[in-house]
Amino acid sequence: MNKRMEDALNGQINAEMYSSYLYLSMSAYFADKNLNGFANWMRVQAQEELAHAMKFFDFVNERGGRVELKAIEQPQKEWDSVVDAIEETYKHEQLVTSLINNLVNVAIEEKDHATNNFLQWFVSEQVEEEARASELLGELKMIDGKGPAMFMIDRELKTRVFVPITQPGA
Ligand code: FEO
Repeated sequence: MNKRMEDALNGQINAEMYSSYLYLSMSAYFADKNLNGFANWMRVQAQEELAHAMKFFDFVNERGGRVELKAIEQPQKEWDSVVDAIEETYKHEQLVTSLINNLVNVAIEEKDHATNNFLQWFVSEQVEEEARASELLGELKMIDGKGPAMFMIDRELKTRVFVPITQPGA
């Protein structure tokens, strides 16, 4: 793979690692508030992001590129409210979608069909990621992030489990 593509993919490894760090920080924030379902949901989210980073890591290696790990920015520690944290999650996923789209643009410009094909998994994944965050945000806004319904949502979020990426070439 050419240098421009390699640099862009290394940048994405860092972005996915940062996403994992951000959601792990949110998990700690929720655990501190005794919202253990939300804490679990964010912990699983963090695991998924780490798996995304490793998928890029493996792909760069597989294509004969050179992985370069960059410093991971310190994530925020506090949020104004539960709704605020989930709102940031949704916005962050929209940002990640734009990063993936930019990578596809680079792959197309560089005529790197293999990377473009690899990235399509992430294009689909981002549709799911945005939908999941948006749905949760919608539910929370409906109840203004408080009241007995929060207990129900927290209990539901406790059931989320990490599912490793299993598709071929992962
Ligand atoms: Fe790795 Fe949530 O996108």
